[in-house]
Parts: sequence; C-alpha cells; structure tokens
Amino acid sequence: MRILSGIQPTGNLHLGNYLGAIRNWVAMQDAMGPEDECFFFLADMHSITVHEERAQRIANVRDMAAALVACGIDPDRSTLFNQARVPAHAELQWLLNGTARIGWLNRMTQFKDKAGKNREGVSIGLYVYPVLQAADVLLYQATHVPVGEDQKQHLELTRDIAVKFNTDFGVDLFTLPDPIIPKESARIMSLRDGSAKMSKSDPSDMSRINLTDDDDTIMQKVKKAKSDPDLFPETAAGLAERPEARNLVGIYAVLAGTTPDAVCAQFAGQGFGAFKPALAEVLVESLRPIRERYQALRGDDAALDAILVKGAQRAAAAAEPTLRGAYDALGLMR
Ligand code: TYM
Repeated sequence: MRILSGIQPTGNLHLGNYLGAIRNWVAMQDAMGPEDECFFFLADMHSITVHEERAQRIANVRDMAAALVACGIDPDRSTLFNQARVPAHAELQWLLNGTARIGWLNRMTQFKDKAGKNREGVSIGLYVYPVLQAADVLLYQATHVPVGEDQKQHLELTRDIAVKFNTDFGVDLFTLPDPIIPKESARIMSLRDGSAKMSKSDPSDMSRINLTDDDDTIMQKVKKAKSDPDLFPETAAGLAERPEARNLVGIYAVLAGTTPDAVCAQFAGQGFGAFKPALAEVLVESLRPIRERYQALRGDDAALDAILVKGAQRAAAAAEPTLRGAYDALGLMR
C-alpha cells in the first residue's frame, strides 16, 4: 500500500478534518506493514488559490505541521512534508493540464461551492485546483487516499485523468487510487447548521471545534450547538430527519468508540440537555492530549522546519521516477 493524503494549511485543524481524515491517516500509519509507505503533506500550493498574507502563510504551514504530529503522525514512519518544497507537484500538474478536460472541471462541486456567485472573479488556481490534487496523488503511485466525503469527487477526477493519460500515451504509468472514506464521520456538520459541513471558512467560530480550543471553549460550543427539542429515539434511524441531532450523536459515537444506535439506546427518552454534557466531556478528554502536544511542538519553528525539509527530500526522491515517466511519455526532453 502507498497511502497518501493532504490538508490545506489554512486556519486551524478542526474536528471535521480530524474525524473525517486525520484519525484515519494515523490509524493507517499505525497499521502499516513493512512494505507499505505513508505520505502526508500540507497542501500549501493549493492554499494560494485564496489570498493570504505572507507571514500568515508561513505560520500556517508550521501550525499544521505541529497539529498533524500532535494528532499522531510520526515523521519517522510517515513522510511528512509541504508541497512547495517538492516542485514535482507543480511540474506534474502542468503536464496533466494537457489531459484534464474543461468539462470535467466544470462538474466539480467544490469549485461551485467555493466560487459561489463570483465565478468570474475567483482565481484560475481555484478552478484548476483538482488537477494539482491529481498530480499530488499520481506522483507517488498512491493506492489508498484517506479523505472525508467532500474529496471523493476530486479522487474520481484523479482516476479519470490517470486513465486518459495512460490510454492516450499508451503507457502504464499511473496507478488508480482508491479513496478511503470513514463510515461514520465522513461528513461532520457545522454545530450551527446541520445542512452545512464543518469548515475552516465558516465565518462563525462557534460552528466548529478547533483542535486548539481550550476546555471551556469546547464546553461553550457544545452548549450552544444547535439541536432540537425532541427526545432521543430508541435507535439512530429515528434521527434521520434531525440533521443537527444526528451530527452530535455521530461525533459522540466516533469519539467514544461506540455506535449511533448504542448512543440512542443509552439516552432514549431523554432530551439533548442531558446528552450535551456527556458530549462535551468526551470531546474535552479526546482533544486535550492533542492540544497539549500541539502547544509543546508549536514553540520550536526550527524543529518543525527540519521535519518538513527531511520529509520533502524523501518525497522528492519518491516522486522522481513518475515525473520522469510523465515527461518521457509526452516526448518532452528534460
Ligand atoms: P481540506 O484541507 O479541506 O481538508 C482536509 C481533510 O479533511 C476532510 N474534511 C472533513 N471530513 C469530514 N467532515 C468535514 N466537515 C470535513 N472537512 C474537511 C477533507 O475531506 C480532507 O480529507 N483538496 C484537499 C487537500 C488535498 C488532498 C490532496 C487530499 C490536496 N491534495 C491529495 C488528498 C489527496 C483539501 O482541501 O482538504
């Protein structure tokens, strides 16, 4: 297995990232056999699709590197790096721009969501973003890509690009990757709106739990989280039309290592007022050790940079054969 995934270093790591993706990264790293390899990276090249100040961008990369290590990514076992230090990503993207079709990109729902009504005013980078993502994955011959539900379409596009390139140039260069999407926490929703996913770009900080939030903040956010006045049903099927309630029960179930059905059985007949303190507690207990490790790591810029530099060297070496193969297939001499 070649396991690979990325995260944009913008804003804080939040509970959606953690439960949707990072927990799986750590689990796959920890279960890895001697033949397997893990690549995890900060998609800083992707992050330029929206404006950010220089100093903030530099800080964001270190923040996210510290957060991933705090969550359990071990830079000795996994290759942890930032994209900008491995130019092969940008190079392969350009080569794949010859293969990706405008019609395919026009169907990307994430672009439509992010551009909103401002389609003419957003950057070209935001539009071609999924081609860079395809390059990220294909460069390393990744077989398994642990992501949340919202990245599924980008991985389907990645497969389409790989198949078309291999076919058009008569090569067997790119491996088709499989997305690994968690069953229970593929899509963690906003605490304020059960129809919107939890996101770094939501203007309200009350909508998400950040991995850096202190215990009091977590408790306040859970207390104020939107729920409904109905009582707990006997089974999770009774939550089908109650998106906010379903989301909170789902979060609890994943963190407590149980199932939504078991949570409903435990709280059946009670209101959300009785459940929220239990949810706050499991969140506080789960996130506190991560936050403490994060704070210890975040103070040492040089150590974080050293991790990323070393990871980038390993990544660049792993990427080189595929990049060379792509130039060669196209008949480009370097
Ligand atoms: P990003 O930075 O938006 O999110 C990182 C990971 O977190 C998952 N995620 C969620 N999962 C469940 N519920 C949520 N509310 C939630 N919000 C975010 C995302 O699905 C993702 O797995 N384009 C990617 C970064 C990327 C990438 C790649 C991923 C760039 N190249 C190559 C995989 C492979 C992104 O913006 O993720």
